[in-house]
Amino acid sequence: MGRTITIIPGDGIGPEVTRATVAVLKAAGAELDYDERLAGVAALDKLNDPLPHETLDSIRANRVVLKGPLTTPSGTGFRSVNVAIRKEFDLFANVRPVRTILPGGRYEDIDLVLIRENTEGLYVGVEHYIGMEGDPRAAAESVMIITRFGAERISRYAFEYAQRLGRRKVTLAHKANILKYTQGLFLEVAHRVAQEYPSIEWEDRIIDATAMQLVLDPYRFDVLVMENMFGDILSDLMAGLVGGLGFAPAGNIGDEAAMFEAVHGSAPDIAGKGVANPTGLLLSACMLLDHVGQQEAGDRIRVAVDHVVRTGAARTVDMGGHTSTREFTDALVRALG
Ligand code: NAI
Ligand code: MG
Repeated sequence: MGRTITIIPGDGIGPEVTRATVAVLKAAGAELDYDERLAGVAALDKLNDPLPHETLDSIRANRVVLKGPLTTPSGTGFRSVNVAIRKEFDLFANVRPVRTILPGGRYEDIDLVLIRENTEGLYVGVEHYIGMEGDPRAAAESVMIITRFGAERISRYAFEYAQRLGRRKVTLAHKANILKYTQGLFLEVAHRVAQEYPSIEWEDRIIDATAMQLVLDPYRFDVLVMENMFGDILSDLMAGLVGGLGFAPAGNIGDEAAMFEAVHGSAPDIAGKGVANPTGLLLSACMLLDHVGQQEAGDRIRVAVDHVVRTGAARTVDMGGHTSTREFTDALVRALG
């Protein structure tokens, strides 16, 4: 009997990369049982609801979810199911490790982690138009909300994470020079939390300078923590440092539940063709294994992925190879055998 988790195959390439991931998890000896549920377009088609109650109930009971990408219609249609799940379970920490796997990119041996506050900042949805002189949309206003509670729990999460994983340094990226209240409060709180972790090096940097330094010399960083929108932008920049979305995993962590997913979307352009790269979801599953105390199985998978990709034993199309999802999966299973 393994640990039961909720698994949501998702839309587009979701079912393909989920199938591949489950096969590799099995080969690595992960002790997991899967409670498969629907969300997104797949759920809308079958159950007439993009986020059915039974899916939420399953997450509530199992507290851990592995989720494939979900298609979100732009402009019209239902609201993002990803955002709804994050909100429902208060998944406040978005954790995105970025590591070089495919050699020959812009940088070798990148190993960074971005920890993004996932619930506050400009993304709280407090927005409105202001009418003037007969124009109902003469101006628009979005409110950035930072709370002491929110800044403290994400800062503490970053330091606890660094401590647990033996990381040397935490950098807070902020804009407290201009946004003296919101960003100022975040900086003040993070600075105070940092004093409780004297063994971990600590620095704060202005967000724009951080963006430039990440491009010029990413090795000077280790763990980075920041508020919601800055984290949204820099996490994509950092994925770019190691060749893009194909290798990027993510965890959304709260006190009640945790959701692990690849950073990429449902890739409708290649869905059903059997060519998708499952590595993003697979590395997310490794984070899930760490989270449920099965780190050994996760480490075995990470070693296998490194081996298969670095030696060129198998590479999917997005890596410049021509291996199908299935062949790539088989190569991983063989490497684990
Ligand atoms: P996308 O990440 O799905 O695709 C961007 C490009 O990368 C495409 O050319 C795609 O073929 C390629 N790609 C993505 N993942 C790949 C993989 N594993 N292997 C090989 N190639 C891969 O982004 P896009 O096209 O902007 O979004 C498509 C849909 O996905 C939208 O409905 C969007 O809302 C949704 N989405 C969902 C996310 C989630 O569930 N967490 C995250 C991002 C987007
Ligand atoms: Mg984003």
